[in-house]
Amino acid sequence: MFVIIKEDYDQMSLEGAKIVADRLRRKPNLVLGLATGSTPLGLYKELIRMHKNEGLDFSKVTTFNLDEYVGIPPEHDQSYHYFMKENLFKDLNLAPRFVHVPNGMAKDINTFCDWYEKRIKEFGGLDLQILGIGGNGHIAFNEPGSSLGSRTRVKTLDEKTLADNARFFDDETQVPKYAITMGVGTIMDAKEILLLANGEKKANAVKSAVEGPITAQCPASVVQLHQNVFVVVDKSAGSTLEGKYHDSWKRILFE
Ligand code: F6R
Repeated sequence: MFVIIKEDYDQMSLEGAKIVADRLRRKPNLVLGLATGSTPLGLYKELIRMHKNEGLDFSKVTTFNLDEYVGIPPEHDQSYHYFMKENLFKDLNLAPRFVHVPNGMAKDINTFCDWYEKRIKEFGGLDLQILGIGGNGHIAFNEPGSSLGSRTRVKTLDEKTLADNARFFDDETQVPKYAITMGVGTIMDAKEILLLANGEKKANAVKSAVEGPITAQCPASVVQLHQNVFVVVDKSAGSTLEGKYHDSWKRILFE
């Protein structure tokens, strides 16, 4: 595992974007796993900048998002479809047929989840999966206690998530209670993982994920078993780490 501690959020985002761009330049038909949330927004902005100013080409890239709410249509401003469109897809030259976000409106959700797994395999598997981490160590919607071997499936959202989300919806009945999420096992099958974290409120989760015991109580800790992981954090999120870590992946690999 390469742990890279950067000065601040912007530096973390640039470092993450450099890794993605490097993989894309080496493999134009990269299969890229994407996350929503506030953490990867800076990385996405940098990818857009590289696309517009440096001609970084996404036309052959396939994407698979980690998760989506059940019962929220793609046009809804709280859906992950909408989030991705607004924050990344609309500004890149991705081919729509290669873009995948779980379909929370699928009639038969279980069949859809099986299809999603098959679809990832059809494209040769995920080359690089981008991850954020929850304050409790979750990855995607795999909350503490999730099976470390789990595959794409429906999860019931926990009380805290429901309460946090309530403010984004007009009334309580609209707040999604379920989500489709890639499983921990699905994520672990990616050839490389790029886990990002910033801010003090992520420090304990990062410490548990990187230096704690491997346990379903911190689903992110499973990345310790993966062969090719970059953990890129800012100083605050890395503040409780005890190991001696690097500040650049290029230094690690080419020094
Ligand atoms: C997003 C996702 C979540 C987030 C995590 C961190 O698709 O699956 O696991 O990565 O909740 O969220 P932020 O980045 O908003 O702190």
